[in-house]
Amino acid sequence: MTTPWNQRYAQRMERMGSSAIRELLKLTQRQGLISFAGGLPAPELFPVKQFDEASRRVLAEHGSQALQYSTTEGYLPLRQYIVDKMSAYGIEADVDNILITSGSQQALDIIGKILINPGDKILTESPTYLGALQAWRAYQADFVTVPTDDDGLCLDYLEEALCAGPKFMYILPNFQNPGGFTLSRERREELIDVADHYGCPIIEDDPYGELRFEGEHIPPLVVLDAQKLNGNGHSFKHGNVIYMSTFSKTLAPGLRLAWMVAPRDVIQNCVMAKQGMDLHTSSINQMIAYEVAKDGFLKEHVRLIRRVYRERRDVMLNAMSAHFPPGVSWTRPEGGLFLWVRLPEGMDAAHILEGAIAQNVAFVPGVAFHPDGDGRNTMRLNFSNAQPEMIELGIQRLGQVLAAELVY
Ligand SMILES: Cc1ncc(COP(=O)(O)O)c(C=O)c1O
Repeated sequence: MTTPWNQRYAQRMERMGSSAIRELLKLTQRQGLISFAGGLPAPELFPVKQFDEASRRVLAEHGSQALQYSTTEGYLPLRQYIVDKMSAYGIEADVDNILITSGSQQALDIIGKILINPGDKILTESPTYLGALQAWRAYQADFVTVPTDDDGLCLDYLEEALCAGPKFMYILPNFQNPGGFTLSRERREELIDVADHYGCPIIEDDPYGELRFEGEHIPPLVVLDAQKLNGNGHSFKHGNVIYMSTFSKTLAPGLRLAWMVAPRDVIQNCVMAKQGMDLHTSSINQMIAYEVAKDGFLKEHVRLIRRVYRERRDVMLNAMSAHFPPGVSWTRPEGGLFLWVRLPEGMDAAHILEGAIAQNVAFVPGVAFHPDGDGRNTMRLNFSNAQPEMIELGIQRLGQVLAAELVY
């Protein structure tokens, strides 16, 4: 007798169905297609030589340790490296505040596992990171959304959303994925006050903060929160914010290596949750990443990434000004990998995508990033992955598709 699998799936699978957009995006794997769809770093910048040398050193000097099981918390020298890195970023922590995860995506899943009961509400920006929605839908969360503008979360709508009693809020402060915008310093300070007033914790997801091309660094929410609570920013003991970042955009996403910074008792609970997922993040990857990153290489490498992405962003912005028809507007990100396009009301970006794919160009329709189904007239464009001449050509083609479809 064959197993009727479809009668055996857990209820949580009902919220994980395939979407029409995901099906469309499968077409973007096609050869010769210019894709602004993924969130992929520039592959030609991956420090392959450094990884080659570091792997040899790790295997020659610590081969058996690298190939052995290790602790769930992560490789101690790497956690210490992250403590130092965070300190330079204004975040004071010690190794007990750090958990190494298998990508930030796993950190999001861990958060879901330790915090979300079925039916809990999560407050998110609208639009927000699709991977967080995917992770938390699996824990049967519902979403309460707050709109955003070019300075990030619109605080005028925040208190009303907080009145719905969300378990926590999920904020992407820098060069947001998908919007490309950055939460202003004034809004960060007010957000911390309001969150504190309502007793609502914040998950701060910051994969792009290091990739600022221009403008002033703005302190992370976790720092502003610690300053408010402790007057000196030195203790995360009573912190209201869990911070996370990743090596995916600065070293290589294939490593699957990221970290969380949180109060100790939260880290201990995360450790228990992670044990059930993968016991620990790959020992060998952690050791090689540490070997590559230490002694200043990563700092230097990030400067190169910023230079290249800034140039690509500028090529994309200039090409959009030249080729996009009137009525279309877009964000001008000061860093990161994405920008966000708004089409006139009534236009459907999913329909535009079909036309774009026929012209061998792809992007992600913005509706995918809205938990509430809004944003049909928006689209996310990635500028980090394609070469400048391909960006110019792709935007030119997209401009033609838009001009042909525009309804005034
Ligand atoms: C906001 C955000 N969070 C998390 C992730 C996942 O990153 P990682 O590769 O570390 O799992 C991404 C990846 O694009 C992202 O944009």
